[in-house]
Amino acid sequence: MTNHGAMTKHGGNRAVMRREVLAGLRVRPRAVPPKYFYDARGSQLFEQITELEEYYPTRVELAILDGHVDEMAACMGPGCLLLEYGSGSSLKTGRLLEALSEPVAYVPIDISGEALEAAVAKIAARFSAIEVIPLHADYSAAYEIPTTFQPARRRVAYFPGSTIGNFDPQQASEFLVEVAAVCGPGGGLLIGVDLEKDITVLERAYDDAAGVTAEFNLNLLRRFNRELGANFDLEAFQHRAFYDPDKARIEMHLVSLRDQVVEVAGEAFAFSAGDTIHTENSYKYSRERFAQLASSAGFDVERVWVDPQELFSVQFLTVRDAASEP
Ligand code: AVI
Repeated sequence: MTNHGAMTKHGGNRAVMRREVLAGLRVRPRAVPPKYFYDARGSQLFEQITELEEYYPTRVELAILDGHVDEMAACMGPGCLLLEYGSGSSLKTGRLLEALSEPVAYVPIDISGEALEAAVAKIAARFSAIEVIPLHADYSAAYEIPTTFQPARRRVAYFPGSTIGNFDPQQASEFLVEVAAVCGPGGGLLIGVDLEKDITVLERAYDDAAGVTAEFNLNLLRRFNRELGANFDLEAFQHRAFYDPDKARIEMHLVSLRDQVVEVAGEAFAFSAGDTIHTENSYKYSRERFAQLASSAGFDVERVWVDPQELFSVQFLTVRDAASEP
C-alpha cells in the first residue's frame, strides 16, 4: 500500500493533493493533475461521459472486446494471473475473465479503496473459482504483486479505456517499463489505445452537447473548494477542449471568464480574463507511434484489434526477453 495518513474519500492523500495543486497553480502555464477529477461526483460524471453518443471510446472498445475476446484470451493463454491497472470497469473485466482459460488470480490495482471494494465484490461474486487479491496502491509509485495460492504460468496486465492517453509520453513510457518489469519476460499486456482521427470527432467527444464533460471539468474546482478550502466561483470559469494535431492530444482547460483573485489553501492566485488552468491531456496514437512507444519500453506488439472505422484499438503486447533486441 502506498497511501497513508489523511486519505481523501476517493483516493489520494489530502496533503499530497494540496501540495500538487498549489505547485500547479504557482507556475505558468497553470496545470493540475487529472487524477483529481475522480471524487464521488467526478466518477459519476465520468460514468455519464462513457454513455454519451459523442464519447465513442468506451462503446467502441467494448464492441472490439465483444467481437474478439476469445482471440484475446487465446493470446493470454491458460493459467494466467490477471493484473488490472485501475479497477474501474468490471464490465470489461468480467467479459475477459469469462473467456480466459483457467485464470489463477485477478489482482485489481487502484488508488481508490472504494473503487477496489466495488470491483472485488462484483468479480468475486461472479467468479468463485478465481482468487481475487485487491492491491490498494498508486500505480505511479512502488507496489508489490501479492503471492497467489496457485502458481501462475504467466502474468498478464490489463489496462483498458485508453487511460495510457492521459499520461504524457515520458510517463507513458515509464508506466510501460514498470508493467514490463512486473510481468517479466514472456508476460503480457492487453491495452486499450485510442487512435488519431478526424478532429471534429475528437473535439465533440470532449465537448459534448449536453455539457457533461464541461461539468466533469468544472467539478475539479468544486472539489478544490470543498477539500482545499478554495473559493473558486464556478460561474467564472468555462470548460474548453481542443485537439492539438502537433502534439496529437486533446487538451482540456478551465478558462477564467474575468479578472479575478482566487484563494486556494490560504494562497491567493490572480487570474486575468482568458487565463487557463490546464486540467487534462488525452493523447491519441497512430498504430505506428504506439508500436514505437511499446517497443522502446521492452514490449513486442503481438496483435492489434480495431473497429471497422479504426476509431479505437485493443492491443496485445508481450514482454521481450532482455537478451533479444527489438
Ligand atoms: C479516463 N480517460 C481515458 C478519459 C479520456 O478520454 O481521456 C478521461 C476523459 N476526459 C474527458 N472525457 C473523458
